[in-house]
Order: sequence, then C-alpha cells, then structure tokens
Amino acid sequence: MLVLPKGVRHLPGFLNHQSQMELVAAIREVVRAAPLYTPTMPKSGKEMSVRMTNCGSLGWVTDKECGYRYQATHPVTGNPWPPIPTMLLSLWRDLSAYPHPPEACLVNFYSETAKMGLHQDRDERDLRAPVVSVSLGDACLFRVGQTSRDGPTVSFRLESGDVVVLGGEGRLCFHGVDRIYPESSTLLPKGGRINLTLRRVTAPE
Ligand code: SIN
Ligand code: FE2
Repeated sequence: MLVLPKGVRHLPGFLNHQSQMELVAAIREVVRAAPLYTPTMPKSGKEMSVRMTNCGSLGWVTDKECGYRYQATHPVTGNPWPPIPTMLLSLWRDLSAYPHPPEACLVNFYSETAKMGLHQDRDERDLRAPVVSVSLGDACLFRVGQTSRDGPTVSFRLESGDVVVLGGEGRLCFHGVDRIYPESSTLLPKGGRINLTLRRVTAPE
C-alpha cells in the first residue's frame, strides 16, 4: 500500500462515467468562452508544455514579465473568466471542509507529451482552504512529495474521474505530473488529459 503524506488524499473513481461526461461538456463551454493558451515561465519566458485556461472570479496565470499570479481576466482575450460549473462547486462543498466557495478553477490540458515539474501551490492567501484536483481523460503518473523540495516522493497513477485533495498538513506538499499515458481513456475523443484544480485565493473577511 502506498503511503501518502499527511493531508494528501487520493479518491480513485470519485466521479462516475456519467459525471465525467457532464463535466467535460461543462469544460468545453468554459474553453469556448476562455480559449486554452500556452503559459510561459517567469523570467526565462520558456513555454510550459501544458495549455491552460481558468474559470471563476480569479484565474491563475504566468508569463515571462509578471510571473505567477491570479487575475480576473484572460491574458489573451482580456475578458473576465467564465463562471465555475455548478458541478465543481458542489464537489468543493462535498470535499473541501472549507466554509467558503472556491474562487479559481485552473484548467490544465495535457497533450500526450506534456508534463508538469514538481512545485508547490502557494500563490493563495488562505492556506486553510485545500486544493481540490480532478482528473479527466488519459491517465497520468502523479508525483507527490513533502513540504520541502528535497523530501521523499511517491508516484501513482491518476485515472479519469479520480480526485486528489491537498489539505491541512498536505496543503503545501510538492507535486507534479511526470507523464501522460496516451490512449488510456476514451473520455476525450482526441485524447489527452484535463486537470481541474479548485482553489480559494483570497482570505474571507
Ligand atoms: C497542478 O498542480 O496544477 C496540476 C496537477 C495535475 O495535473 O494533476
Ligand atoms: Fe499544483
């Protein structure tokens, strides 16, 4: 049995196939209003392999000039982000154990060669709120470590419909995606993986 760091929960198959289909339809609407774009790393300006967009009152963005941040508008279209689909708001209510709604939902799209380096989610004000992360489409190899970069890590597969919660002592655990398993799911007709991360950004009054 894999032992996860304290505060890190893996909920395999949390969403059934019907819910996954409904969620994909809702995310298609989000992407229609707020197209996926290629973010760049702070300072180096290197392109990330993952394409991104957001929904919610705030979206997480990064670029060469201004680095990691949250903002209310899409960096390419300049429009406000579309709302977070209601299904995701209820998922947050069910899983977050946090009394306020999420403000940001980052939508990450991984092609078959995309990956994401080990990092912490620490651009949010209220770290009492967890990060709730949903996987759709092709499986990936997910890696999670400790709250320091050099701590031991464990890797496991995330399948379509799985949810991961980083909360409490696990809120600042390093995590990343080592690889995608192409053609491991038929949920997305053209393949690839969608990851949705729900976050509270500001501290409530
Ligand atoms: C992220 O940490 O933003 C993405 C995690 C994932 O794709 O599962
Ligand atoms: Fe993250």
